Amino acid sequence: MLEKLKQRWGVNELNLILIICTFALGGSLCGYTGRRLLVLFDIDKGFLWVLLYIILITILWPFCVLLISIPLGQFNFFTRYLSKIWKRMNGKNKNNASISVAIYASGAGSNAARIIEEFKDHPYIKIALVVCNKPGAGVLKIATDNNIPVLLIEKERFFRGDAYLEELKKHSIGFIILAGFLWKIPAKLTGAYPGKIVNIHPALLPNYGGKGMYGGFVHAAVIANKEKESGISIHYVDELYDHGNIIFQAKCPVSDDDTPDTLAQKIHVLEHQHYPKVIALVLQQMQNQR
Ligand code: GAR
Repeated sequence: MLEKLKQRWGVNELNLILIICTFALGGSLCGYTGRRLLVLFDIDKGFLWVLLYIILITILWPFCVLLISIPLGQFNFFTRYLSKIWKRMNGKNKNNASISVAIYASGAGSNAARIIEEFKDHPYIKIALVVCNKPGAGVLKIATDNNIPVLLIEKERFFRGDAYLEELKKHSIGFIILAGFLWKIPAKLTGAYPGKIVNIHPALLPNYGGKGMYGGFVHAAVIANKEKESGISIHYVDELYDHGNIIFQAKCPVSDDDTPDTLAQKIHVLEHQHYPKVIALVLQQMQNQR
């Protein structure tokens, strides 16, 4: 249950505890203030008192949770949460609104190509941007061939600037897919897209993840350790390398004569088979929660 909430809200354990505390304290403050106000108006307990109490706490509740959320550091979460409720109440639950997605990739781009193919004529999912940190990477041609705008990024602004949030906003990006993107994702970006960034890793996390563990290095380590199986992990992205909650894993056997190249081929087959489908499910879930 708590795990589900963490995923749904895209928060870590500490934030989840603080959010639950905000709900509890905000609710108590709201009930207390409602009762005090009714005492001020000198209304006898009875049907009218109950009716006015319900109306008062409904009006007071958002203000109370917002107030409590400030010292608990959850103000941003609650402004988003309340605005969602507000939209729902106003019938603006745009279940068919489109989601613009950015793919971050810096390699050959075979996963990016599969994902682009999967969502080509999708009714509400649009691959709107390809972000790349490597001039000349294969993925750039794939993007151009599919008429998808490309954003070439450089280290300084990504890690120590605004992480290119301005450009993402310009393209109305609502979800990010990492497909062979090797830089760590800075807190600015995970903070702006909580629970809305997914990555694929070519091994069975939590094994063979972390800094320096990418592509061929992962497969070489798996073979050197004489593992009997490897696989893929699709996971949410948080501020640590290969660390966020795992959404999906699939396995393949490692044979004695496998080389990093042959193992990479087996892994690519699994990636191409599952990544687009898992993304579609995650986005569908996100759409249902809007
Ligand atoms: C994929 O195998 C992906 O899992 C891996 O890079 C490859 C990119 O291939 N990602 C990582 O190692 C991230 N730690 P592609 O460019 O052909 O999609």
